[in-house]
Amino acid sequence: MFKIAVAGTGYVGLVAGVCFAEVGHQVTCVDIDEEKVDLMKSGNSPIYEEGLEELMKKNYVAGRIDYTTDYKSAYKDADAIFIGVGTPEQPDGSANLSYIATVARQIAESIEKDCLVVVKSTVPVGTNDKVEQFINDFLVNDVKVEVASNPEFLAQGSAVHDTLYAERVIIGTESKWAEELMMNIYEPFHLPVVSVNRRSAEMIKYASNDFLALKISYMNDIANLCELVGADIQDVARGMSFDERIGSKFLNAGIGYGGSCFPKDTKALENIARQNGYELKTVKAAIDVNQEQKTMLYKKASKRLITFNGLKVAVLGLTFKPGTDDLREAASLENIPLLLEQGANIYAFDPVGAENFAKVYPEGHNGKGRITYVANIEEALEGANVCFVFTEWGEVKAVTPESYKKLMRTPLVFDGRNIYEVDEMGRAGVEYHSIGRKE
Ligand code: UGA
Repeated sequence: MFKIAVAGTGYVGLVAGVCFAEVGHQVTCVDIDEEKVDLMKSGNSPIYEEGLEELMKKNYVAGRIDYTTDYKSAYKDADAIFIGVGTPEQPDGSANLSYIATVARQIAESIEKDCLVVVKSTVPVGTNDKVEQFINDFLVNDVKVEVASNPEFLAQGSAVHDTLYAERVIIGTESKWAEELMMNIYEPFHLPVVSVNRRSAEMIKYASNDFLALKISYMNDIANLCELVGADIQDVARGMSFDERIGSKFLNAGIGYGGSCFPKDTKALENIARQNGYELKTVKAAIDVNQEQKTMLYKKASKRLITFNGLKVAVLGLTFKPGTDDLREAASLENIPLLLEQGANIYAFDPVGAENFAKVYPEGHNGKGRITYVANIEEALEGANVCFVFTEWGEVKAVTPESYKKLMRTPLVFDGRNIYEVDEMGRAGVEYHSIGRKE
């Protein structure tokens, strides 16, 4: 078993750290935020992720994981240091590498024995070469440092499961020593490992995420055409899914992809291509389709209603997908300002995302409109003139067509996630608009 330090306790770092501890490694998670470190020491997770807190508690009690702001003590004798800090998008679409650089500098100044530095954060191709050079330039002690790439493929909401039972582990190394150490660290997970060079590993991450984004945008594009020619996107997707070359996953049309990954990684790869004098046409198309798609529901509703001014608007779901409290790049953030600008009186329900949303749009007056956060769906629907579904939470899926009919003043529903049957809604007397299906 190895002594592992993890830099950054966001989704990537914290989940990786906890899972390394779970398989038996000795882990120290480092973060600059003292409050967050105290919270984690008391067994609480700073992020909402199924199963994470239980594993944090279990491994903390077993003495296999600790949390600290003292990076020096965590890094100095680690066998491997995993970097999981953020690489946020910059205004030009490129990735901001300043957090990685800060950690790299701290590592260079702290390590007292040979060490493998592993970059888990999603970084532009070639970054690992630069990180290795950077660390060596600033190294204080006479030790060997190498950098390996180990991109992360977890999805929010199933992060722990995705890590412990990953479909593959990608390791990108430039020496036998680094490759063997990585193999040994991952050995207790018993997962398929794909070992490639560093640049290929970096590219696998972008190519995978952008391919999935492309798949979603493609289905959204086809969905929009389905509406025009009278086909049904769900039937089309079902028919396509039997072809194993296409597969059955990520074929759901809707109001576009959100989250911290697809929007960022599509723009980043497009930017990398541009920097290299190449135009990545397919990824560019995925980005363009997604941008249009996000306000598709608002556009549809605007065609149907003269105004939203003074209307009670029920909003079901705020997060970019179910199972997370994350709002980054969520469709709700594009549609709600448009509704507020029109003077809508919004009643929003989200089982975990409302608190975060209220930080951006506080309860009460917001410009010409109003927003109220409600703890149950009935309260949102009661007397509403129109309802928007932005996230397919289980609670939202469970609402029956009859409830819409009974509770709303006018049963008019715009569903961005295609969660109800068109015919059932029609039979219950609900006017139902969704994506790529019969109106
Ligand atoms: C995504 C990838 O799925 C992970 O494999 C990857 O590791 C992660 O990014 C990352 O780079 O860190 P995540 O952003 O958590 O994970 O969420 P997804 O479940 O992939 O959903 C992304 C967005 O696509 C959501 O807004 C979702 O609603 C949308 N989506 C997904 C669709 O619109 N249709 C689909 O069929 C599937």
